[in-house]
Amino acid sequence: MSVPHPIPYQGSKRNIADSILAVFPSGINYLVEPFSGSAAISIAAAYHKKAEYFYLNDINKPLIRLLEQIINNPRKISDEYEDIWNSQKGIEKDFYLTTRNRFNETENSACLLYLLARCVKASVRYNSKGEFNQSPDNRRLGKSPYNMRRDIFAVSKLLKGKTQLSCKDYKDILKHISKDDVVYLDPPYQGVCQNRDSRYYNGIDFNELVLELKDLVYDNISFILSYDGRRGNKSYGRELPKSLGLRRIEINAGRSTQATLLGMNDITYESVYLSPALISRLQLNSNHLTDKLFNPITLSNYQ
Ligand SMILES: C[S@@+](CC[C@H](N)C(=O)[O-])C[C@H]1O[C@@H](n2cnc3c(N)ncnc32)[C@H](O)[C@@H]1O
Repeated sequence: MSVPHPIPYQGSKRNIADSILAVFPSGINYLVEPFSGSAAISIAAAYHKKAEYFYLNDINKPLIRLLEQIINNPRKISDEYEDIWNSQKGIEKDFYLTTRNRFNETENSACLLYLLARCVKASVRYNSKGEFNQSPDNRRLGKSPYNMRRDIFAVSKLLKGKTQLSCKDYKDILKHISKDDVVYLDPPYQGVCQNRDSRYYNGIDFNELVLELKDLVYDNISFILSYDGRRGNKSYGRELPKSLGLRRIEINAGRSTQATLLGMNDITYESVYLSPALISRLQLNSNHLTDKLFNPITLSNYQ
């Protein structure tokens, strides 16, 4: 079986998980994800036995509750998803809107899973009142209950009994990291994943993030950060200051679905920054990179 992925989520690192895992050192105690989203990297790391324990945090509380249900209560959430999914037959569009109202009143986890499986680009969007207001993608019904159950149980098997979850601001999580751990940071890109309602999303302040990274470097913490990138020659995101002493690598993330739809050939490259402590743990050199990576990757002249 391949790596399971029950939660469709815009910005998920599922497609480049192998390349990110290739820069994981051995002997990781906790893999800490302060911006876990769908937990794609922790799930892949558990699947490939790259860490003993996992810490999943995200500011989106309903999302963390959904992950908690998937990990600790797989039968209940699978049954609920199946009930919801089956009830949509013949009234798909109206049913989506009813379920969206239900989610906005109750924050029910199975409703959120159904909405993510059915909404446009699997992307969470909230209005100024904090209500989920993303529209349905009427071309699809969402993952079948059979496949969803299979993925949910597989994730539960990988993470149950080894995973802590929380819903805090990322800065609170970074205060408690130890040297055996590895932190994988995947903050929202500037201009993406941001929302007016801070119950679910905070825009990440660039200067604040830089200060947090500076402290992690000073404390010799091993971290991997996904931040900026480029599509063809067009860069997105702001480059981090060289004074942090991070190593940047670029991962070939292929052509985006959007680019393919538009008939464009542009490849997306995602930047990943590695902390000095992580580099020492890896004894990183070009051979390590070219030997171990599945996707083409380039060491940039950033440092
Ligand atoms: C790019 S997504 C992470 C995607 C994830 N790596 C995956 O594979 O699904 C960024 C996440 O950061 C979360 N987030 C935004 N601001 C945050 C904050 N201040 N503290 C913690 N999480 C935050 C968002 O809710 C979102 O899920």
